[in-house]
Amino acid sequence: MNKLAPSILAADFAALGEDVKRVENAGAQYLHIDVMDGMFVPSLSLGFPVIESIRRNSVMVFDVHLMICDPDRYIQAFADAGADIITVHAEACTHLNRTIAAIKEAGVKAGVALNPATPLSVLDYILEDVDMVLLMTVNPGFGGQKYIESCTEKISRLRSMIQERGLETDIEVDGGIKLNNVQKVLDAGANVIVAGSAVFSGDREKNVEEFLKILNGK
Ligand code: DX5
Ligand code: ZN
Repeated sequence: MNKLAPSILAADFAALGEDVKRVENAGAQYLHIDVMDGMFVPSLSLGFPVIESIRRNSVMVFDVHLMICDPDRYIQAFADAGADIITVHAEACTHLNRTIAAIKEAGVKAGVALNPATPLSVLDYILEDVDMVLLMTVNPGFGGQKYIESCTEKISRLRSMIQERGLETDIEVDGGIKLNNVQKVLDAGANVIVAGSAVFSGDREKNVEEFLKILNGK
């Protein structure tokens, strides 16, 4: 089943709890939480106190996207803060196999993220070990960027790679996904859809409902 993962990076931080409740009540299954360190990506975003606070008021799957260097330092802390899935960037890990093992030992699902220019071959010896692959469809660091078209073929190639190996790995896509291009990424094989600015601008409930109609094939 396809899942919608609204990214709180685009939420109103002065009313964050309310924004989270609104997308949850409208039916979004995941909450995408972007953590940035000002090193791996240019910007800084949020950390443990914010995640702990919203965890107390939400039962959504917390999908934590770490855009940070050397994430091993913080795996346990993000699990303790309430993450259900922790995704690390392959480009940010010196020992990716060890990092993925540490995420699983912390009792949460493990994801690996790839920047748009990172080839799928980095997954060759790790695909069997992860629950989800996050394909960035913009260069990470900011919300509201334009979808990079060459990513569509990359999604299809990853879906074939997963099927050829007899796996059921989730493919999450992140960046520039809107109501007018989400069908294209679903057709290519993505099944977890991140949307920041397309959900948290204007009528949140209506945005979620419109996305879910497409995700549910209605
Ligand atoms: C970008 C983040 C995304 C971002 C998506 O670095 O990883 O999750 O919030 O925002 P939109 O959907 O506005 O491109
Ligand atoms: Zn993200």
